[in-house]
Amino acid sequence: MTRPQRKRAVHSRLVAALLTAVSTTVVCPTLHAADINRGAELYRMHCTSCHGGDGRPLMPGATDFTRPSALLKPDLSLLSVIRAGRGGMPAYQGQLRDREMLDIVAHLRTQR
Ligand code: HEC
Repeated sequence: MTRPQRKRAVHSRLVAALLTAVSTTVVCPTLHAADINRGAELYRMHCTSCHGGDGRPLMPGATDFTRPSALLKPDLSLLSVIRAGRGGMPAYQGQLRDREMLDIVAHLRTQR
């Protein structure tokens, strides 16, 4: 192998390692099976005051989870809204783990 070839080989190994690290970090939260029962319990504790027990909102402006268009976004997009909050909705980062927020999303998806 010439020097430039060796350099390229090292470079592509580095890129592969980096891609593996990134995809593991980003994809991992969804690789575990969600706990739907735990999600339902957490939803009752943290979310019903605005979103309603059955997903029909009590607070005007809160997303109506019974609407067909409500949960079309992928889990990771919904996770980032729940983490950071939006408009009248508080942020849950620091209060719930990502795993728990994803359990709630899984519960909501069973309600439709
Ligand atoms: C204080 C009221 C309130 C509480 C409590 C609340 N939400 Fe919300 N939620 C809102 C409002 C208002 C919106 C609409 C935000 C906007 O788009 O302006 C919303 C939007 C959402 C959305 C839609 C995001 C999207 O991009 O379509 C999701 C998902 C959601 N809430 C999940 C939750 C979950 C899960 C909980 C409990 C952990 C929760 N919310 C608790 C008020 C609340």
